[in-house]
Amino acid sequence: MADQQKSKQNLTDRKPCLSGRGVTKVFGVGNKAMTAVDHVDFDFNEGDFVSIVGESGSGKTTLSKMLLGLISVTEGEIEFQGKPRDISSGAKRKEYWKNIQPIFQDPFASYNMFYKIDAVLDDCLNMRGFKSAPEEEKVRLKTEACSFVNLKYAELTNKYPFELSGGQMQRLMIARIFLLKPKILMADEPTSMIDACSRATILDMLLKLRDEVNMTVIFITHDIGLAYYISDKVYIMEHGKFVESGPAETVIINPQADYTKRLINDVPKIYEKWDLDTVARN
Ligand SMILES: Nc1ncnc2c1ncn2[C@@H]1O[C@H](COP(=O)(O)OP(=O)(O)O)[C@@H](O)[C@H]1O
Ligand SMILES: [Mg+2]
Repeated sequence: MADQQKSKQNLTDRKPCLSGRGVTKVFGVGNKAMTAVDHVDFDFNEGDFVSIVGESGSGKTTLSKMLLGLISVTEGEIEFQGKPRDISSGAKRKEYWKNIQPIFQDPFASYNMFYKIDAVLDDCLNMRGFKSAPEEEKVRLKTEACSFVNLKYAELTNKYPFELSGGQMQRLMIARIFLLKPKILMADEPTSMIDACSRATILDMLLKLRDEVNMTVIFITHDIGLAYYISDKVYIMEHGKFVESGPAETVIINPQADYTKRLINDVPKIYEKWDLDTVARN
């Protein structure tokens, strides 16, 4: 099942997109210092669907904020497309943000509630340089983005984000990404606030985005079963460190680290076939 979802391209043929060496974040100073991310190394390639998996407090969100350039890196290097990432000025940071875009856990916190949905989508077009494009071209692009996520543009234009359901808001987030077409999508627990049915739809849309735009998707989750289902590569994070990483099948079918084994034991039968005898007996 997982294989069918994944791109057929050989994982090793892909060009580097985002890499890190010794990336570290320490919050606070002196005896209050706390190392949230501790010398992590990673190589995320173009078109990779990567999951970062770990329990709450393991440092996933802190790492994602460093990758997004929202907080400083205490120590270590981040490379974007094979060159040291430079976000030292406001202009450079803005340029970098054309390449990496987030979807956050809480869709309600992700929108300016005073902006109508049409304005949210217009902002994306402006960022892509479509500000002075003809009105009908803009409407065509916005309609296309909405239909990509099964939303109807004509019904949305005059609404505010708070008039949508949680699932619809998440889909609107993905429509934004479809318009922005960044090189990297950072999705931090994007499905944890929505019901199981919307969750499957959102995951399928993320896979479709990756396939259509050759985007690198960095998917952050505490759910190793979900990571196995959806990703090419997984990085397992414990106390700010990557304890294990590699192709999803290798890591999850044949885990080496005790921590990975424990995460897998918490979700029994993620890859075993249902044993019908056992089901019948119970
Ligand atoms: N701004 C901050 N100041 C101090 N400590 C923080 C801050 N943000 C996160 N932390 C701490 O860093 C650790 C990792 O947190 P986080 O990255 O949010 O983990 P996760 O996303 O895996 O749940 C936690 O112990 C958290 O309390
Ligand atoms: Mg988090």
